[in-house]
Formats: sequence, C-alpha cells, structure tokens
Amino acid sequence: MTTTNPLVLPYGEAAIAEAARVIRAGGCVAVPTETVYGLAADATDSRAVAGIYEAKGRPSFNPLIVHVSDLAAAQRIAVFDDIARDLAARFWPGPLTLVLPVRPEAGIASLVTAGLDTIAIRVPRHRAMQALLAVTGKPLAAPSANVSGGISPTRAAHVAASLRERIPLVIDDGATEAGLESTIVRGTEILRPGPLTAEDLFSGEGRSPEGSIESPGPATLRPSPEHGTVVAPGQLDSHYAPSKPVRLNAAGAEDGEWLIGFGAVAGDESLSASGDLTEAAANLFDALHRADATAAATIAIAPVPETGIGIAINDRLRRAAHPR
Ligand code: TXA
Ligand code: MG
Repeated sequence: MTTTNPLVLPYGEAAIAEAARVIRAGGCVAVPTETVYGLAADATDSRAVAGIYEAKGRPSFNPLIVHVSDLAAAQRIAVFDDIARDLAARFWPGPLTLVLPVRPEAGIASLVTAGLDTIAIRVPRHRAMQALLAVTGKPLAAPSANVSGGISPTRAAHVAASLRERIPLVIDDGATEAGLESTIVRGTEILRPGPLTAEDLFSGEGRSPEGSIESPGPATLRPSPEHGTVVAPGQLDSHYAPSKPVRLNAAGAEDGEWLIGFGAVAGDESLSASGDLTEAAANLFDALHRADATAAATIAIAPVPETGIGIAINDRLRRAAHPR
C-alpha cells in the first residue's frame, strides 16, 4: 500500500494564494490557528464541508466551528445577545467559540451545524487563518485537522501524518501557541474547557452576569450529560485518543510504560518541568504524539492540577484515557 503526503508550504503569500485557490475550488486545506491546526473549507459550500467530514472520517452528527475575520462578519451569521457581545468584545480575536442561534439567511451549509439551529463561531487570532479568511472572503468551517478521534494537531507534521493523501495542502507556521482547542461557551455555560478559563471569561469585576459560573471548579466546568451527548456531540467520551492505553495520575512508570511527566514527576519527557500549566497545554498533544510513536505498550501521565487551564488539560487527558 502506498500513501502520499500533502504539499506542505511555509506560511507566506504563496501559501495563502494556493490555499485560497483550493478553497474556492471547493477543497479543504489545513491551516494553523492559535489553538490547533484546522482543516478549513468554505462553510457556505455543502460539498466542500462534506469533504471535511470525509477527510476526517468524522461522524456526520458532529457539528463544526465556523471561523470569520471579525465581529461584524460573525453578526451576519449568528444572533448575538448582550453576553455574547461582551465576550466577543473582550476575547476576539482569540481562542473563544460562541454557540449562538444561526441566521438561516446567512447560507451556512446545514452540514456545518449538523442540523442544529445554533452555530459555533469564532474569530481566530492567528495570522495564517486571518489571511486565508481575508483572501477568500468566506466563512471557513474548520475542525481540528486530524482523523476523527485522533490527537489534535499542533504542528504541520502532525497533520500530514494523520490526514496524508486525504488533503492536498498544509500551511506550516510552526507549533501552535495554545496547543488546545478553543473554549466553547453557550450563554454563560462552558461546553468545552479550553485556553480561556471560567475565571478569564466570567469572574472579572462587574462582568459576572446573572447565573454565570461563580466559583469555577471541575464540577461546574464538566459538560453536563445532556450537553455531552446532544448539545455538543463532539464531547464524546472517547476523543483525542492515542492508539495505546493511557494511565492517568501516574507517580512513576511501570514496566513497558512511556511516562509523560509534569512538575516533580520527571518521566521520559515532561509537559513542563517547572510545573507551568500553560507550557503543559502547549506541549500536551505533541507529547501524546511522541508517546504514541515510541515502542512502549502503554502511556502513563503524571498528575496535572485541576486549576486554570489544567481543567482543560485534564478534560483532554480523561478523553485520551477513556477505554475504547
Ligand atoms: O480551537 C478550535 O476550536 C479548533 C480550531 C481549528 O479552530 N477547532 C475545533 O473544531 O476544535 P472541532 O470541529 O474539532 O470542534 C467542534 C466542537 C465540537 O465539540 C462540537 O460538538 C461543538 O464544537 N459544536 C459545534 N457546533 C455546535 C453547536 N451548535 N452547539 C454545541 N456545540 C457545537
Ligand atoms: Mg477535534
């Protein structure tokens, strides 16, 4: 069996022009964002969107995030209330996705929303995704650029290794900054923890709307069961999965294990030797990819504190460890 790899072009005018050409022709391309690499296609072209699902082998009930260049473009697609406007003003461009009622007249392909009457939308900060949005002038649907259920890609090489001949082009702009998918918010509820924490979003002075998350903690942030299965179907228990069993909260390595350390637990490599959670988030998927590629039968991971962005890290780790 032979496989070919996608063309990988360094970020620049030529790469953006080629990517825009592919997107206008109804194809999809992998492009970095400040969170993870996304697989982008024209969100108004249902065949192009189908191409995303096809390349990822993604269950069709799983709706996609739409990326736009600014708040004005977002308001042409979704209906904003006061809370959403406030969050957008404070955190866009950035790693925040808002779930809002979709405007049917905006012409977003129903495959994007998987038939829901809401849409997940965000304004990314990364120069490559921003350039692609500007040149194409289209809203771009973009899930993480990996085969469905696999580890999210934080480098162009991860994308190429996962999607191979299924996509024509990857724009390479190095490792992504956050290394975790965007925080998804509906109203004042966090549907998916991410780089922006509940404290960041809702605990500022005079920022806290009625019913917001007052004392953030793992219990308040975990999606409730109905959200896990219906509202945000991407929050499946088995997701972000390496190909090997994963053991969490490991104080040391057992026989045949590759240990990913954190803080005082050194391991074969460390998410952050100094115990820095932001550094750990940025390294997380990279470390899982490397662990998956070793000869070890099992991946063990040191405990990571459930505070701040550690909540999102543990959310991903629990999914990675969930039995399949
Ligand atoms: O950082 C990110 O958000 C990355 C980069 C590429 O932008 N994208 C990303 O997209 O993570 P994706 O498709 O892998 O994740 C989409 C998530 C899923 O959990 C999905 O269920 C949820 O968004 N979602 C999409 N539309 C929704 C909706 N209308 N209501 C609730 N959840 C929704
Ligand atoms: Mg994903």
